[in-house]
Amino acid sequence: MTEPAGRVQNAPITAQYPEFPGKAAVVTGAARGMGARFAAGLAARGVDVVGADIDEAAMAATAQEIAGPGKVVAARIDVTRAEDHEAVARIALERFGRLDFWVNNAGVFPYAPVGEITPEQIGSTLSVNVEGVLYGAQAAARHMSPGGAIVNMSSVSAVRVRKGRGAYCTSKAAVAHLTESLAVELGDRGIRVNALAPGYIDTDMTRWVKEDPAALQHALDVVPLHRLGSPEEVLGPLLFLLSDSARYVTGHSIAVDGGSRHV
Ligand SMILES: NC(=O)c1ccc[n+]([C@@H]2O[C@H](COP(=O)([O-])OP(=O)(O)OC[C@H]3O[C@@H](n4cnc5c(N)ncnc54)[C@H](O)[C@@H]3O)[C@@H](O)[C@H]2O)c1
Repeated sequence: MTEPAGRVQNAPITAQYPEFPGKAAVVTGAARGMGARFAAGLAARGVDVVGADIDEAAMAATAQEIAGPGKVVAARIDVTRAEDHEAVARIALERFGRLDFWVNNAGVFPYAPVGEITPEQIGSTLSVNVEGVLYGAQAAARHMSPGGAIVNMSSVSAVRVRKGRGAYCTSKAAVAHLTESLAVELGDRGIRVNALAPGYIDTDMTRWVKEDPAALQHALDVVPLHRLGSPEEVLGPLLFLLSDSARYVTGHSIAVDGGSRHV
């Protein structure tokens, strides 16, 4: 389908997975953006979800808005704290009696030219974006039902340089590699681990692109489909990676970027 340049396509992804109803998932960073869409898309397919976010009030409001049929329980998490992941896993087990899927989605996207990255910025970026994935995967692996699947949020920035985002790009490259390490080690237990590598997706994180006409034009030029992606368009590949259709897929990063070859 040809879309007019620039228009974000929010039409629902229609794929259904008959094996999903009755399963249970944790999604971090689920208060807004892609995480909120992931929680809603899973719940719409009968998956019970613990939506976890550092913004407790926003997470509670998002959970309220999701229709189901899967249940959505809101929880507070700071993904930099391993003990918070353990607590969230226990909520899933107490409320739903099982844990099948874990989506390490929470992330931060700070700006600074590499010469100006402070110890605080590199520390907090690696802590949220990389340690947050590691601790989530550790908690998931401790408690997952057989056949479990983990999906981590990397980025096209893992393999391409984005000016002013050195800390972020470094963190997402680490997520891509950590995904491979996790897949190798957790494969022994039948747990699959993959990553999604989105390009320009229309969320709060990319508001700066839409607010700067030159940045928006650049994005539309370098993306072959000539538009930003929507959270719904990342949900589609997420569902596939979690599903039985991807049961022989592990250790990979899948780009969801409208085909872009540049930044
Ligand atoms: N939007 C894009 O274009 C894009 C592109 C590539 C990758 N990503 C990645 O996708 C993921 C989701 O991005 P988004 O665009 O939906 O972002 P967003 O900023 O809209 O949402 C991020 C969510 O993570 C939460 N969060 C931040 N720090 C946290 C912490 N310490 N503990 C728990 N929750 C925390 C926030 O409260 C927020 O709800 C991120 O990992 C991001 O790096 C986004």
